[in-house]
Amino acid sequence: MKITVNGRPCDVTSGPLTTLLDVLREELGITSAKAGCEQGGCGACTVLVDGQPRRSCLLPVGVLDGASVTTVEGLGTPERLAPIQQAFIHHYATQCGFCTPGMLVAAQAYLDRGGSDDREAIVDALGGHICRCTGYVKIIEAVAAAARGESFDLSRTAEGRYTTLLAGGRP
Ligand code: FES
Ligand code: FES
Repeated sequence: MKITVNGRPCDVTSGPLTTLLDVLREELGITSAKAGCEQGGCGACTVLVDGQPRRSCLLPVGVLDGASVTTVEGLGTPERLAPIQQAFIHHYATQCGFCTPGMLVAAQAYLDRGGSDDREAIVDALGGHICRCTGYVKIIEAVAAAARGESFDLSRTAEGRYTTLLAGGRP
């Protein structure tokens, strides 16, 4: 079975009923998608399949032959973060980070389909994504800022505090 992951063709050897989440993490060593509930309820495992956000814990890889999968590793690189990743840093929209890869790819899909900074539309786009840390306000602010096409100072948060995610940042 062949799938493309982050632009790289992959021959998958796992059985057809193996979940995409397990294929990514255990066979391909791509670990951004997280195993949270593994029942479709938390969104931590979300990846893009042919551009659409999908719960990878529910997807048997056997139905994905020929599909294109994008994980957060495919959005940007540490040296060249995607705007939505920059927005999450600047707006301090991530804390422990467990939910963040799923949030980011769902937000990217929202932006790719022309999503606006409308709060309700963003809430709808991220529906079912559970975050135990941030309380969602900053996540929504980050997606709205990215939708407005803002640029981001990664050395400081939107409140003017130093970020700790780049060299030179201070706690
Ligand atoms: S781990 Fe897939 S939705 Fe929770
Ligand atoms: S940042 Fe910790 S669960 Fe969302």
